[in-house]
Amino acid sequence: MSDLSCKYLGLNLDCPLVVAASPLSRDLDTAAALASNGAGAIVLFSVFQEQFGEHDAHMRRAWENQSRASYLLGAEQVRRASPVAHAPLLDRGEFLTTPEAYLEHLSALKRRVSIPVIASLNGYDNGRWLSFAKKLEDAGADALEINIYRLGADPYVASSATESVYLEVLDAVRNEVSLPVALKLLPFFSSFAAMAHKLDEAGAAGLVLFNRFYQPDIDIERPGLTTDLCLSSSEDARLPLAWAAMLAGRIKADIAVTTGIHCAEDAIKAVMVGASVAMLGSTLIRNGVDRMSTIRDGMDDWLGSHGYRSVEAVRGILAQARHADPAVFEREGYTKVINRYW
Ligand SMILES: Cc1cc2nc3c(=O)[nH]c(=O)nc-3n(C[C@H](O)[C@H](O)[C@H](O)COP(=O)(O)O)c2cc1C
Repeated sequence: MSDLSCKYLGLNLDCPLVVAASPLSRDLDTAAALASNGAGAIVLFSVFQEQFGEHDAHMRRAWENQSRASYLLGAEQVRRASPVAHAPLLDRGEFLTTPEAYLEHLSALKRRVSIPVIASLNGYDNGRWLSFAKKLEDAGADALEINIYRLGADPYVASSATESVYLEVLDAVRNEVSLPVALKLLPFFSSFAAMAHKLDEAGAAGLVLFNRFYQPDIDIERPGLTTDLCLSSSEDARLPLAWAAMLAGRIKADIAVTTGIHCAEDAIKAVMVGASVAMLGSTLIRNGVDRMSTIRDGMDDWLGSHGYRSVEAVRGILAQARHADPAVFEREGYTKVINRYW
């Protein structure tokens, strides 16, 4: 048996496989089954900023932006293109829990499992709603994961303004709690590495790479946008793995890889590029809670059969910072791949 124990956000984990924020934690029995199948920790599904009544202000801003955009595109084009123009506004009743019920669920889960439980806040900007972080701490959360889903989609907003919002949110949450705070991020920054460094300097205990960008598909018959949810496949892990490899050892914050971790080999890759943990969502939703123990056993077997006694022995061996030839991760790697097809 290999030693799979690891540290994430200062917490001692029995293994680096973490349940990603998702409906997997909505039901206490399912969450407990994941823990008994060997999960190292559970990230609870999110409580959303929209649940605190701050959505209306956001939608008003979206409308304002839209009217500015209509100068460029023409009002009719904007009306057709923008979901804001005709989508019904989400109201607080559309979420499966209330913030109060979320706190009760968190406390109940903490009583039920002995592994760390990380509570998740999901929003787009700084505001009063972030004071809820303190209630999560009081309810027993071991750490917080803040999913900031804010796209730089407005042509009038400079990238520095978008980046400031991330830093403000981190600062606001850190002022509320003494818990470790991880940020779940989108990869769409003009310089992702510089942004990761800023968040690291500002005290993020972890960076979770990456939040999935749920691209709508196009229904050409209606015509309109469709927003069905696609589960990931292993191929989708390449982006977070590449960025984890480029950042590991260069920032103090722990790195979690989320998106596309479907099997033991994917999780081993995450550790090799320097991630502290790999988060699992789609594979557990698709295959059930037993998948957790299959992946955990698979990691154990792989490490043992390759002569490694612990997961720590492979951590970061493929991180760019430790690589003899770091250029293969960047321009040189890119040109080599392209040239192979010529
Ligand atoms: C049905 C579903 C619900 C999700 N809900 C949340 C959520 O509440 N908060 C959050 O931060 N991420 C949420 N996610 C994103 C996951 O935590 C995870 O980052 C993403 O699914 C990528 O991992 P995967 O490839 O293992 O699925 C959700 C994903 C799915 C599939």
